[in-house]
Amino acid sequence: MRNVTGEQLAQVDNPDPFASPVWRSPVYRTPESVIWLVQLLRLLARVIWFAVRHPLADAVAGLVVFTWLRAGWPGLAGLAGGVLTALVLLRLIWPAWFARLVSGPARNRWRWWFYRRHWHAVMTIARLAPVLELVRRDALADPMPALPIPDMTDLRALPVGRREDGTPFAIRLQGTHLLIAGATGAGKGSYLWSLVRAMLPAMAVGLVHIWACDPKLMELAFGRALFDQYGRYAADPADIADLLEAAVGEMQARAQRFAGKQRDHTPTPEHPFVVVLVDEIAFLTAYQADRKLKDRILAALATLTTQGRAVGYSVVAALQDPRKEVLNIRNLFPDKLALRLDEPSQVDMVLGDGARDRGAFCDEISADPRTGAGVAYVRLEAAPDPVRVRAAFVSDDDIRDMTTAYTAGLLAEVPALTAGEAA
Ligand SMILES: Nc1ncnc2c1ncn2[C@@H]1O[C@H](COP(=O)(O)OP(=O)(O)OP(=O)(O)O)[C@@H](O)[C@H]1O
Ligand SMILES: [Mg+2]
Repeated sequence: MRNVTGEQLAQVDNPDPFASPVWRSPVYRTPESVIWLVQLLRLLARVIWFAVRHPLADAVAGLVVFTWLRAGWPGLAGLAGGVLTALVLLRLIWPAWFARLVSGPARNRWRWWFYRRHWHAVMTIARLAPVLELVRRDALADPMPALPIPDMTDLRALPVGRREDGTPFAIRLQGTHLLIAGATGAGKGSYLWSLVRAMLPAMAVGLVHIWACDPKLMELAFGRALFDQYGRYAADPADIADLLEAAVGEMQARAQRFAGKQRDHTPTPEHPFVVVLVDEIAFLTAYQADRKLKDRILAALATLTTQGRAVGYSVVAALQDPRKEVLNIRNLFPDKLALRLDEPSQVDMVLGDGARDRGAFCDEISADPRTGAGVAYVRLEAAPDPVRVRAAFVSDDDIRDMTTAYTAGLLAEVPALTAGEAA
């Protein structure tokens, strides 16, 4: 470094003979007076160019200076008065000429100046200008620990994770059904458990019941005590068919009771919000060998999804393979979430036509659980473009803790909690 003076092209002195050569550009120091001179000349050139391009302004300025030199301030006042009188007379006698020669050009000039300053901002606010967001870091690259159990359950916005832009990601269950599709190990469990976690406060006061169907005996069995206490649990396909049919029966009884009285359901302890939670729904529909059982289950699911929304029944189902042969009732789920999928063609099956073209690259989500598990694309109501989100990871310990806390009578001081708008 000793050799680099900045006045010549220099190779940085390096005692290591095998190091690659490093070159620095020379630095020339300009005297300050030269900088001033150049800037002054520039200014002069601009003023001259302005004068050349604005002859009318030159003439007006010349007239003003001439009058002032000849007649002083009274002359200027007379000039201003004369111009004003001329304009007033023009406006009164020939209004069309006034509009053409004075007010029109003046307005155009003002508009040009005004919009030139504001146009860009207006286009941006109206979302007509392209915004080039430069992503420097993947905000979802690291797993997120389970979110704290909220004080209050809002069934229209259950917090489950984070969006790509860092804002919280919440899922609505009230008035809808949710299908969660993703290949094996994609992290569907973290959505199911994050939802359960967000509903615990309402479950504790009897405003939400969860009926869990766990055909794989893997996912939901872990918190079985929770479902036994605040709903129901079934794992055997025959039991699941019974559970689903019982849900249909209760739902229809409720529908009959409320028919014509109210169109939206408000959870009460007598008529709680019921979430039918199904892990790996294909086990019950496509891969079920017993045909009768399969038909019963499909019929019950179809009834729940078509009639349950308005009376406080919501079906949340996880699914590995989104093909129609596997789940022909997938379109009965208004809300869908697509985690990592095996093939590009599966994206549109879940999120609807054109979703992958609009950026839902589910097949490119990392198969490494650290970076990819729980990452999903979802279509939000407000925007056509899919948004990337990630669920918080509810670990086995979290599930054990929440099950213990909410089933072992540790809830002596649960605050008065509400579900949705229920007071
Ligand atoms: N949100 C998450 N953040 C980080 N890691 C996660 C997340 N969700 C799951 N994982 C990790 O990925 C593994 C697989 O997740 P999970 O069991 O939920 O997958 P799955 O989609 O249910 O798969 P399968 O269809 O085989 O049941 C988990 O054991 C966990 O280690
Ligand atoms: Mg699973």
